[in-house]
Amino acid sequence: MGLVVTIDGPAASGKSSVSRELARRLGWKWVSTGAFYRGLAYAAIQLKVNLDDVKALSELTHNPIWSVRLEPDRTRVYFQNEDVTDAIAHEDVGNFASKVSHYPEVRKALLDAQRNCSKGEDGLVAEGRDCGTVVFPTAEAKVYLTASSAHRAARRANELGLDEGDMAKAQKQRDHQDSTRKVAPMAVPADAFELDSTELDLNQVVDKVEAYVKTRI
Ligand code: DC
Repeated sequence: MGLVVTIDGPAASGKSSVSRELARRLGWKWVSTGAFYRGLAYAAIQLKVNLDDVKALSELTHNPIWSVRLEPDRTRVYFQNEDVTDAIAHEDVGNFASKVSHYPEVRKALLDAQRNCSKGEDGLVAEGRDCGTVVFPTAEAKVYLTASSAHRAARRANELGLDEGDMAKAQKQRDHQDSTRKVAPMAVPADAFELDSTELDLNQVVDKVEAYVKTRI
């Protein structure tokens, strides 16, 4: 297993951009673990699996009809051999992902696949909600990224061309779901470096995170 850095935080806190750029600078692999939950949610929507059917959802976690592939620029998701990475970026898939992520059976079933991303000699930057607390509790360095809710809503609304007010409401609901669930709720790992990115640009955030990581590896 290579070295691991985890970056957790709420929706649209900049985790993906920061972790992708950090991985590029370090020459490491990068995974957005949300892709596993979004991929599962997308597959469930396509196959009309009921959101309450935990058994069917758990079985679907291992169905080769969908898969996740790590690439330096994106964590890609395939469904029936088609690249659906753009489709899973929608907020409604994010919300569905947040809902399926509540089930302990689903989380457990997706854990090995996420941990397997660190196999091999290359280092890994892993981003999500519980990467530092549950997926990689022994990671060399853990970061928890935040930003004001207004800033996060504006950022994602801009990216997806949607209304800022609607986005703020959707994110608030998703963050509430993610932080109050019983299993592996979104939480600041005890030994994490916490950083608020509201007043910083991407490079400034990555500079700070990289400087911290370098003190740990
Ligand atoms: O990071 P994201 O927006 O792509 O994640 C989508 C949802 O997946 C998120 O709202 C909750 C769930 N998730 C999770 O429970 N644990 C993770 N490590 C990553 C995502």
